[in-house]
Amino acid sequence: MQAVETISEMRGVVANARAKGKSIAFVPTMGALHEGHLTLIDEAKRVGEVVIMSIFVNPLQFGPSEDFDRYPRTLDHDAKLADERGVDFLFTPTKEDMYPAQAPVVMVHPGAIGKEWEGAVRPHHFEGVLTIVAKLFNIVMPDVAVFGQKDLQQVAVIKAMVRDLNFPVGIHVVPIVREPDGLAMSSRNRYLSPKDRELGLILSRALFAMRDAFIKGERRASALEAIGWRMLERVVGLTPRYLAVVNADTFQRVNTVRHGDAAIGAVRVGETRLIDNIIF
Ligand code: PAF
Repeated sequence: MQAVETISEMRGVVANARAKGKSIAFVPTMGALHEGHLTLIDEAKRVGEVVIMSIFVNPLQFGPSEDFDRYPRTLDHDAKLADERGVDFLFTPTKEDMYPAQAPVVMVHPGAIGKEWEGAVRPHHFEGVLTIVAKLFNIVMPDVAVFGQKDLQQVAVIKAMVRDLNFPVGIHVVPIVREPDGLAMSSRNRYLSPKDRELGLILSRALFAMRDAFIKGERRASALEAIGWRMLERVVGLTPRYLAVVNADTFQRVNTVRHGDAAIGAVRVGETRLIDNIIF
């Protein structure tokens, strides 16, 4: 694996790969890699000839009271994992290279898909995500980019951006990787105390209960949501933020649940926010 630190060096790598007729698969991340990220690399290797991963903790997508400063930065370990899993180029630009004039004047707005749920809890988060992803796409010029289902609303806004702004990039989505007890893997799980981790597990259990009821034939979103809410509300020490059944592309609520719709949820335990989802 080759480390690439500047945008100009990255452009050189891309030009070289293109000159050789190689397809490029791209895995954008903020580091603190876990098995979930590594399965994105597996997918990138499956669909592309050159695999580029980026690690950049993007200040633009964190709110003023969020965890930008304490977000885990584990670059040496990440580089080792990425190398072992088969990344060809690891792109780790600096903040100064990505945002030379502080915050950009022009940003990408997510529209209605980014308004509710995570968008309501984290104003401007998706603008920050879309702006950095658009910048990275323009630098790496991938044929395919791979994202995790864990951030399902992020996937929906990115797909909409690619469609509406005509980025020539295929978006591949890889299913959530879970711990043996069901907790969705996340870089933020390392913030959880053992007690908070136990409480956090209730979110995935609530989603699984909704899925089980769907499998048994329940199609009313309100009934499925009630099943999940009952489980979240009886747990002391866990603050539910939202739990809903939505269309996985528009992120609008549905009344009647169809295959492909999603149950999405967010909770706070201690200082940590956890999000999770399942696709029916
Ligand atoms: O999912 C993430 O890790 C980030 O939101 C992304 C897509 C790398 C943009 O910073």
